[in-house]
Amino acid sequence: FSLKKYNTFGIEAKAKQFVAVNSIDDLKTVLQEHQSKPKFILGGGSNMLLTKDIQALVIHIDLKGKKVLKEDDDFVWVESMAGENWHEFVLWTIDQNFGGLENMSLIPGNVGTTPVQNIGAYGTEIKDTFVSCDAMNIVTQEMKTFTKDECHFGYRESIFKHEAKDQFIITSVIFRLTKHNHKINISYGDITKELEKQNVITPTLKDVSNAVIAIRQSKLPDPKELGNSGSFFKNPIISKEQYEKAHALHPEMPYYVISDTEVKVPAGWLIERAGFKGKRFGDAGIHKNQALVLVNYGNATGQEILAVSKDIQATVLKEFGIAIEAEVNVI
Ligand code: EPU
Repeated sequence: FSLKKYNTFGIEAKAKQFVAVNSIDDLKTVLQEHQSKPKFILGGGSNMLLTKDIQALVIHIDLKGKKVLKEDDDFVWVESMAGENWHEFVLWTIDQNFGGLENMSLIPGNVGTTPVQNIGAYGTEIKDTFVSCDAMNIVTQEMKTFTKDECHFGYRESIFKHEAKDQFIITSVIFRLTKHNHKINISYGDITKELEKQNVITPTLKDVSNAVIAIRQSKLPDPKELGNSGSFFKNPIISKEQYEKAHALHPEMPYYVISDTEVKVPAGWLIERAGFKGKRFGDAGIHKNQALVLVNYGNATGQEILAVSKDIQATVLKEFGIAIEAEVNVI
């Protein structure tokens, strides 16, 4: 069974056995029937690089549905099943004038995988509106609710990448969104510029979403046209001492202060300065408008893309003394 259509990188990898589930009961049955087999859980396939065929049973989470759970005077609690497309879910909330997710418009992938890496863009992360998620224990099939505190969210981090890794399948997520007095967040440089360009003075949720969509479309390749997995690397967080050393050699290096002792450096800048932006090695390459994004021009293998990523890591380490880590899950 080809997984090419199931991963946004468009890598041709095969699954020995593939099953799609569209209800919680189905999921339970499949897990029970294949108790002893190794399993590979597949959501939207937007944050992984397949470097080989999958011998384990691939379970594609195709749970659909979204609804308003409850509301009070100021907020509304909305629930989405894991298999809903993230961007369509965001647009659905904006259509109803529910605020909080607009800055995360157009992020590829499904709702169920958003908590795993606490997705974020343009000054917001899902942890800002996340209430809880339900997940099924793969071994016992018991359902568990993870509250926001239990998820241990950090920058592109959560419990699902650590203690809870490979143990749970997220089945649904609840967000608390604003009904009015929306906290419009346009502090991220490019959004303000984009709104000015469109002559928007008091932006609505839809305006912010449209601005984010325009910026993303100008920088980030559409996976339907050019295979990719968004940012391939995380922006490295380094100590102030380490930053000062690198900065002395490269005074134009941008940074964001994280705490008294740490700063975050845009990996895209490091990769561009290391000379990789827009480069192509066979069918594997580095996007021309955003160096943080690796792309598949058609028939690149996962191994080829992985090799390019290793070359980038080694060169950045050599030139700047900074180690950059993959954000994408390498399988
Ligand atoms: N930059 C360069 N060259 C490049 C790319 C970026 O010099 O090729 C510099 C920019 O000039 C800017 C800085 O790096 O000063 C930051 O660039 P940008 O605003 O494009 O954001 P980013 O740090 O590269 C992060 C997220 C994106 C998210 C944007 C906007 C990570 C790993 N990536 O990218 O998330 O959309 O901010 O909030 O944190 C993703 O995770 O898949 C993703 C696309």
